[in-house]
Amino acid sequence: MENLIGDLDVLNPQDAEACETVHVLKDENTGNKRKLYIESYGCQMNFADSEIVASILQKEGFDTTSDIATADVVFLNTCSIREKAEQTVRNRLTHINGLKKQKPELLVGVLGCMAERLKAKFLEEEKIVDLVAGPDAYRDLPALISQVDDGQKAVNTFLSREETYADISPVRLNSNGVTAFISIMRGCDNMCSFCVVPFTRGRERSRDPYSIVQEATQMFAQGYREVTLLGQNVDSYKWSPEENNKAWIEKNGVSNIITFANLLEMVAKVHPDLRVRFSTSHPKDITDDVLHTMAKYENICKYIHLPVQSGNTRILDIMNRGYSREWYLDKIKSIRTILGNDCGISSDMITGFCTETEEEHQDTLSLMDAVEYDFAYMFFYSERPGTLAAKKYTDDIDLDIKKRRLNEIIQKQTEHSLKRNKLDVGKVYKVLIEGFSKRSEEYLQGRNSANKVIVFPKGNYKKGEYVHVLVEDCTGATLMGKTINS
Ligand code: SAH
Ligand code: SF4
Ligand code: F3S
Repeated sequence: MENLIGDLDVLNPQDAEACETVHVLKDENTGNKRKLYIESYGCQMNFADSEIVASILQKEGFDTTSDIATADVVFLNTCSIREKAEQTVRNRLTHINGLKKQKPELLVGVLGCMAERLKAKFLEEEKIVDLVAGPDAYRDLPALISQVDDGQKAVNTFLSREETYADISPVRLNSNGVTAFISIMRGCDNMCSFCVVPFTRGRERSRDPYSIVQEATQMFAQGYREVTLLGQNVDSYKWSPEENNKAWIEKNGVSNIITFANLLEMVAKVHPDLRVRFSTSHPKDITDDVLHTMAKYENICKYIHLPVQSGNTRILDIMNRGYSREWYLDKIKSIRTILGNDCGISSDMITGFCTETEEEHQDTLSLMDAVEYDFAYMFFYSERPGTLAAKKYTDDIDLDIKKRRLNEIIQKQTEHSLKRNKLDVGKVYKVLIEGFSKRSEEYLQGRNSANKVIVFPKGNYKKGEYVHVLVEDCTGATLMGKTINS
């Protein structure tokens, strides 16, 4: 089952949420002596954090390496979203244990959400671990590493109400040089009953818009042509300017409180050739203001990841999502009215949540028929310790049933992805080239505004350029075409 999900991932490898892929930071050589290897799991936010960690430690005498065998320090930046994600990390630690036997001085640290969830217990459960640091403790890593160098174990899982790492420029070691991610907020206050994130990432806080615009401006100057603004719920972005930023805010003509729609506009104005994407939107919070801002700027991509989780109102209610099936379908209607049928829409869905009946599962399928998503990440429910659902409800749907229901929604999504892609055949799209296609260096690939991957013969084009491509064919995952003069 999980393999099927992996296959679907290919359409959207850079989406912010829920990929179960591993990222290893690339090599960096600034002449530093100690070598740091970071492997990251989970969502785009973790991948972005690893670049902040690399930036903090670069100043402390570390260069990153992509070869674990040459590392002095190994960090796993972990995810707790489903049980499987945690199991992957434990298996990895068993493997790293083998390396440590040959190299006893190797420092092994766990970062991220699983570190936050287990805290010092990690040290008891996995003897190989020397250091545990939660998502808000990365500035303390140099001190924690010194503590381990002095022969102790080190733990910091303090969650902050303020930390946004706003002043730290991440070293972009995950990037293709064209597209990159910018964290605009941290944490989540939503308390969806199935979800561990509020416990592992703490309270929601928004980052200073000034630092966000500055980062986007710098990236454009360095040749980047697309930024994705990241947060667990970008629609609740909210920032009240501090005194010393007021002059700047006035100059930029935005009111005192900056909403997500304001921020989108500010980033869109950095340069018309800088594409802006964002993830994740929450159906209860996305506003028409955001949709109108998207419509107003050509460079704000017409693509919305709007996770529904379930198509049934009773299930949504016990999931604590804060909206009903009808509310969600109304939001879809607004998107279609304001942004048209070409706007890409994707979703996350969970099957077999506590007490879900067969009819309620059918509601998810019928909602999918009503929306016709371009893409979806789909999971069966995995109970997470400490969440509201774990405390309040019994995880009472058999694994076989959860998987069968998951299979059904995957099958439906596969049909819809193909159907939606077929609508694009014969149309011309502006594509930002991201690099060679996965299969052949004779072809390039990029995405259109709606986030569809388009492959075309390379000609004399280079990554980072915009081209117009006529779509001639498609699969459920990819569009194929040829460039045309525009
Ligand atoms: N902030 C995003 C989601 C972050 S987690 C949002 O609100 O939509 C990414 C996805 O993982 C979720 O959308 C959900 O579909 C899935 N997920 C979260 N907790 C899960 C659990 N306990 N079991 C199965 N899937 C889960
Ligand atoms: Fe989890 Fe809900 Fe927050 Fe998303 S909005 S991170 S699903 S609690
Ligand atoms: Fe992301 Fe996983 Fe944490 S999805 S926020 S790394 S629990």
